[in-house]
Amino acid sequence: MTSLSAHTVKSLLLGITGGVAAYKAAELARLLIQGGVDVQTIMTQSACHFIGSVTLQALTGKPVFTDMWQANNISNMAHINLSREVDVILIAPASADFIAKLANGIADDLLATLCLARDCPLLIAPAMNRQMWENPATQRNLAVLRHDGVKIFGPADGAQACGEVGMGRMLEANELVESIQGIFQPKLLQDQRVLITAGPTFEAIDAVRGITNASSGKMGYALARAALDAGAEVTLVSGPVCLAPPAAAKCVNIVSARDMLVAVKKEMSRTDIFISVAAVADYRVARTRKQKIKKTDNALMLELVPNPDILQYVANLPEAPFCVGFAAETEDLEKNAEIKRLKKKIPLLVANLAQDTIGADDSMLVLFDDEGKQYLSKAPKIDQARRLIKHIAFLYKKQRS
Ligand code: C5P
Repeated sequence: MTSLSAHTVKSLLLGITGGVAAYKAAELARLLIQGGVDVQTIMTQSACHFIGSVTLQALTGKPVFTDMWQANNISNMAHINLSREVDVILIAPASADFIAKLANGIADDLLATLCLARDCPLLIAPAMNRQMWENPATQRNLAVLRHDGVKIFGPADGAQACGEVGMGRMLEANELVESIQGIFQPKLLQDQRVLITAGPTFEAIDAVRGITNASSGKMGYALARAALDAGAEVTLVSGPVCLAPPAAAKCVNIVSARDMLVAVKKEMSRTDIFISVAAVADYRVARTRKQKIKKTDNALMLELVPNPDILQYVANLPEAPFCVGFAAETEDLEKNAEIKRLKKKIPLLVANLAQDTIGADDSMLVLFDDEGKQYLSKAPKIDQARRLIKHIAFLYKKQRS
């Protein structure tokens, strides 16, 4: 069987099995096609009850195969050839029934036969009722698949179509697309424990008002994704943002800088690498009012006191993890960044221009370390995150050797 190597997926066989989540497969196909992936769809007979093959045909621009004998009209060996032409097979949604078939090597329809006869990696995104998911039979089948090298994405926890709440929701299409590309990334941080702070902090002034920083959390979340894809165990300590964390990361939600410090301290004994991306508010009010402050025509004075510098605290620990800081500057980027790196005594500082990067989907970065500086030209944040993880892995290994 082909090993998972460092490249991106160019062609994919999308297998859809019978479940309500089949509707999400249409969005998935659309995102994959948009990302330049060639998609060939195979649907089981049950899947056809949930979504029309014409939808998938229109989205992928290719005929959809729904049964073994129809497929054989086009190619004598469709059950073998179709998988030879792709980098990977993804079953989304993968029903409990189909998972049971895969675990037992049953080949009674085109999709199951293709999976058995494949020579490419097999990925599945399970979707089912929570009790079907928790059933020991399903869990046994999943253990068999894991042992056989099948990669399992999700499921997620939450409200289900059946009205129940629990594990069994198929991952969202965008998360699946990222996860698919992720498994082909080099495992540069295999089993390393990475702690990332992300997003802004919010410092309450009174019951309804507060001080915060403009920060979308996009870079920190992209780094969490990239670190997971590099094989790391990731904990994400996040301020209030409108982003979904990667399902495989442990996520700790906080509000204020002091909450963030508490969360970071808790993780310290299990952290090898600390990446401080959060835009931590430098000050908080000396006295937070419980009630809303009444508006008057007079000026209002607030006394501000400095917040703890979390990165500096971690970097100064006797057994500090490998520390990476970020600097968002509006002027004199390079001068300010190098001063900051030396002041915080950290091996790597990542600088970017605040006005270009805050809230944006792409960024331009300058990396400062003991060797000097390195420019990462403008690119989507997930690509920058992957480049940065590569550099971090290089410096981290060098420091330890
Ligand atoms: O000193 P400055 O705030 O510009 O430094 C930015 C870096 O320090 C970022 O990595 C940020 O996450 C971290 N930081 C922190 N705690 C603070 C302020 C900044 O961890 N109170």
